[in-house]
Amino acid sequence: MSANPHEEAHAGPIKNPKQLLIAVFLSFVIPVLVIIGLVMFVNSGSKPGPGAANPEMAKAQRLQKVGQVEIRDANRPLRGGEAVYNGQCAACHAAGVADAPKFGDTAAWGPRLAHGFEAMVEAALKGKGAMAPQGGGDFNDTEIARGVVFMANAAGAKFDEPQAPAAEGEGEGEGEGEAAK
Ligand code: HEC
Repeated sequence: MSANPHEEAHAGPIKNPKQLLIAVFLSFVIPVLVIIGLVMFVNSGSKPGPGAANPEMAKAQRLQKVGQVEIRDANRPLRGGEAVYNGQCAACHAAGVADAPKFGDTAAWGPRLAHGFEAMVEAALKGKGAMAPQGGGDFNDTEIARGVVFMANAAGAKFDEPQAPAAEGEGEGEGEGEAAK
């Protein structure tokens, strides 16, 4: 009866309780060791030594400076008053945010126009009240002046748009004080 082929097939390598114990123990320990090994492999593999792959690149990155200087083309065509206004000034002046004199609002602009063009440009360049210098923008002084002209003219003034080297006929905002918005 011992040679029953059916019994043989089911008898594995585990023949007694001691072997069973060892088998159970190993079935826990081996996966744990494999996992530890994988973790170590992944951690070490993800950081190649400095300059391992591309020494030039690694060096350039290590030496990279913190700040950056942007070289701007001083001869770029200046933006017109309307472009400056739409790009920067409209954020506050279109709706009168933070008590900014609203675009086309003659009553709000009147007293400021009375101070004269120079004073308004000065205020726009250096900031005034809630308005940061240049309205928080990054423009050429002539561009700011054009933005001022654009807004002032929309509120009834008749300033000429300041001309810079590149003459542009943009930004004419002649109006009878009618609100644009
Ligand atoms: C963050 C909002 C804001 C932006 C953006 C802004 N302004 Fe103003 N601006 C104001 C406020 C507020 C005042 C009123 C300041 C005061 O009288 O205290 C003002 C006032 C002015 C005045 C009148 C100054 C005076 O003499 O009383 C001019 C001119 C002006 N802005 C031009 C500009 C131009 C040009 C731009 C775009 C380049 C611009 N502003 C962008 C908020 C802004």
